Amino acid sequence: MTQILVTGGLGYIGSHTVVELINAGYEPIVIDNLSESPIEVKARIEKIVGREIIFRQVEMCDKAAIDAVLTEFPKIAGSIHFAAFLLVNESVTAPLKYYYNNLLSTMNLLRSMEEHGIRNLVYSSSCTVYGTPENPHVDESAPVQPAESPYGNTKKMGEEILRDFTATGVMNTLSLRYFNPIGAHPSSIIGEFQDGEPHHLVPYITETAIGKRKELKVFGTDYNTRDGSCLRDYIHVIDIAKAHILSVQHLVDSEENGYDVINLGSGNGSTVLEMIHAFERATNISIPYHVAPRRAGDVPAVYANIGKAQRVLGWTPEKTLEDMLRDAWNFEQALLKNLS
Ligand code: WQD
Repeated sequence: MTQILVTGGLGYIGSHTVVELINAGYEPIVIDNLSESPIEVKARIEKIVGREIIFRQVEMCDKAAIDAVLTEFPKIAGSIHFAAFLLVNESVTAPLKYYYNNLLSTMNLLRSMEEHGIRNLVYSSSCTVYGTPENPHVDESAPVQPAESPYGNTKKMGEEILRDFTATGVMNTLSLRYFNPIGAHPSSIIGEFQDGEPHHLVPYITETAIGKRKELKVFGTDYNTRDGSCLRDYIHVIDIAKAHILSVQHLVDSEENGYDVINLGSGNGSTVLEMIHAFERATNISIPYHVAPRRAGDVPAVYANIGKAQRVLGWTPEKTLEDMLRDAWNFEQALLKNLS
């Protein structure tokens, strides 16, 4: 089986991608430093796929630790690089933590891959690189703008490092710009685990619905959008995971080296208020909320033009907004019952 290194493979998108890699007949080599995800996620993945996965605990800021894995598994045909700190507000209060971790781990990986002759890399990027776009419906030609946070800047700088390194001719890389991944595996065994109060909208909605949170704060309804609340492009984490399989295949199949970027979103925009109402319709549970002041760094509106993902990868999202919210809700309930 073709072996693929998955960094941050016990994280939210990483774990769902590991499952889809196995479903597609690949052998993932999962590395994670367990700083953001508990080792328990490994057993959860194994419960879904019905077999053991290869895992190594690796601190990617230590290049020797990466070298050891690439030496142990010389047949690795490519890497998917998820490992990164990703909390926008934490990055504002601890920027060095973010620059050091997110950029050094990426550079260590690139150097180690070059030394081991591995040319294919899928990089986890984010729509945050578009900043506040002129036109909210962005395709990949939309200008990359000054980042709204150190986290966003590490994604932007990561892309630039990849682009410049690829230009030396040794790499074949795809940077996937995720919009807003939400939802969970239909089994409810893996999903978006939270460590304390949720930062993101959908986990906050599900925790409010289950009674863990008293009510949702809507950060501003005075934006220039159809109902005043911010507009985003929500995409099921399983659709995102499947796009990574197609990306790996695309790179492994292609002879020439190069660098490209691809948007991964549903192609549709939904406002915060629309998400609340969609959740209520999907679950028949009402979500108490109140309007709070705007959150620093929020972009008023952004959603993806996904034509390129369809053209280059043959990828089209399959899950509906109702699927996303229902799977997120089922995962929240399973967590409570501890059945998941
Ligand atoms: C969505 C909307 C909030 C919580 C972030 C990262 C991005 C990507 C996805 C990694 C905003 C509003 C939220 C709440 C609210 N991450 N909101 N009340 O900020 O669009 O994107 O996650 O790749 O890089 O920046 O996602 O879910 O935090 O917010 O009103 O309790 O929901 O203001 O308008 P965001 P989010």
